[in-house]
Amino acid sequence: MTLASLQKAEKKHLIQTYDRYQIALSHGRGAYLYGPGGKRYLDFVTGIGVMALGYAHPAVTRVLREQSTRLVHTSNLFYTPFQSLLAKRLAALSGLDRAFFCNSGSEAIEAAFKFSRAFARAEHQRGRVRFLALENAFHGRTMGAVAATFTAKYREPFAPTMPGVSFVRFDDVADLRRKFDAKVCAVCVEPVQGEGGIRPVSRGFLREARRLTRKTGALLICDEIQCGLGRTGRMFAFQHSGIKPDLVTLAKPLAAGLPLGAVLATNRVARAITPGMHGTTFGGGPLACAVALEVLAVLERDRLLARARELGSYFLSRLQALAAKHDAVKEARGLGLMLALELKDEGVAKTVQKRLLARGIIINRTHGTTLRLLPPYIIRRGQIDEVVAALDEAL
Ligand SMILES: Cc1ncc(COP(=O)(O)O)c(C=O)c1O
Repeated sequence: MTLASLQKAEKKHLIQTYDRYQIALSHGRGAYLYGPGGKRYLDFVTGIGVMALGYAHPAVTRVLREQSTRLVHTSNLFYTPFQSLLAKRLAALSGLDRAFFCNSGSEAIEAAFKFSRAFARAEHQRGRVRFLALENAFHGRTMGAVAATFTAKYREPFAPTMPGVSFVRFDDVADLRRKFDAKVCAVCVEPVQGEGGIRPVSRGFLREARRLTRKTGALLICDEIQCGLGRTGRMFAFQHSGIKPDLVTLAKPLAAGLPLGAVLATNRVARAITPGMHGTTFGGGPLACAVALEVLAVLERDRLLARARELGSYFLSRLQALAAKHDAVKEARGLGLMLALELKDEGVAKTVQKRLLARGIIINRTHGTTLRLLPPYIIRRGQIDEVVAALDEAL
């Protein structure tokens, strides 16, 4: 199928929710994606932070192949081997106690919000229903998650969304204190905002959020759907701040491209949930959980967190040099392999993105002016150099 025929068919048959790149892709290997004619792209988007191990990773394809011949799905009516093993592993890595598995980031957020409300009720705090989220936060597209998503164009066409959400100015401790009260059931924070422009929240802000929530018995949710599972060089981004949240949401890289989300919770929160209160048909299926266990094993076996730290700081220093050299760049920022180059002008950002694509390099933009860089953890220094050289030339 050619690009033109795909475009024609999609225009006719799909609800028009996406503004796609003008390329078609047929397969991938390592850090590269390939078009139907064999055109190769170096991918620094990784399916929006999903393909952390790259494409067609041999350990992942082996588990996929083996498990798909045994059992793909049975529903959550039965016991299957991998859910509890994965929950145990995630608990050991995070310091939280238990997991609930679902199919996407938005679903993980929905579950975290529902668990927060249920917990407040179980603690006899019936009026405790407010949520605090941050300006520029992105928590997903379902009715609850989108209510806590700041950008108006994602939220307003679907109003009224879930009531009770207030937005705190990004990283503003004074504003957090002002908006926090005893009616807040949870504060929800991405330790590094992704869609919001690769912005790490300060240690001070997270610690104050932890202190305030602890004082009233409200919960702290860390949304690690984009920044978690090694992307920042620690298994969880909250671990940079020395705090422990009550709930953590995960998704993107968890099952190497299969849809799998998770909420991790402390025992105290989990006690508020009893059978039948929440669930899903597909979530935590044996195929996705078997793959996720392998993803976690590969992260450890191949020391990919150390690699994300080392190559991330190398990449950031190269981006900072670009920022110093080119007047069009406002700032380079990020943590580990979650990086961004913010330009001053949207038109220039668009042109840079286009020029890179013409050279076979895929990056994306958030908020118009931010070039977002989410390479796979298996990226090589030479591939980073190639992208830096292309950015330099395009700028
Ligand atoms: C931080 C964060 N939370 C939630 C979501 C929603 O995840 P999904 O698109 O899987 O529903 C995303 C997706 O980009 C995200 O980056």
